[in-house]
Amino acid sequence: MARFIVINGPNLNLLGSRNPGIYGASTLPEIEAQVSRKAEELGVRVDFFQSNSEGAIIDYIQSESGQAQGIIINAGALTHYGYSLRDALVDSRLPVVEVHLSNIHAREQWRRHSVIADIARGQIAGLGWRGYVAALEILAALVKEEESR
Ligand code: DQA
Repeated sequence: MARFIVINGPNLNLLGSRNPGIYGASTLPEIEAQVSRKAEELGVRVDFFQSNSEGAIIDYIQSESGQAQGIIINAGALTHYGYSLRDALVDSRLPVVEVHLSNIHAREQWRRHSVIADIARGQIAGLGWRGYVAALEILAALVKEEESR
């Protein structure tokens, strides 16, 4: 069974109470439950990880990427400057889908640049929690397609 890891970076543990006008009313456990429901429907396994620390996220990627087929990541503000995280994602050699709850291209200038975007298969931004569910559906389909080649 294909396994995907879903990583959330700094401050995303506060979803639900953190600026709901921008990030939505759902908590991280609620979002993860929606992703798990989709995983069940697709017949894939998902594991979740959240940390406020870049190093902890890198440790997780290093220890888990050998047993996974893809990564879905909302790196929070690390998106904009996290070069060690970017390197860890590259080193994992796994397909990565970048997710943002808000439309980072319609906010402050500094949020418009992602240091992950050019190494990711793609980016989903501005579609709220549904972006994670869509990312899983698309990543699972891509991996299945590529494995059957
Ligand atoms: C975010 C956007 C980032 O700019 C911000 O720092 C976050 C959340 C999003 O999901 O919209 O923490 O990644």
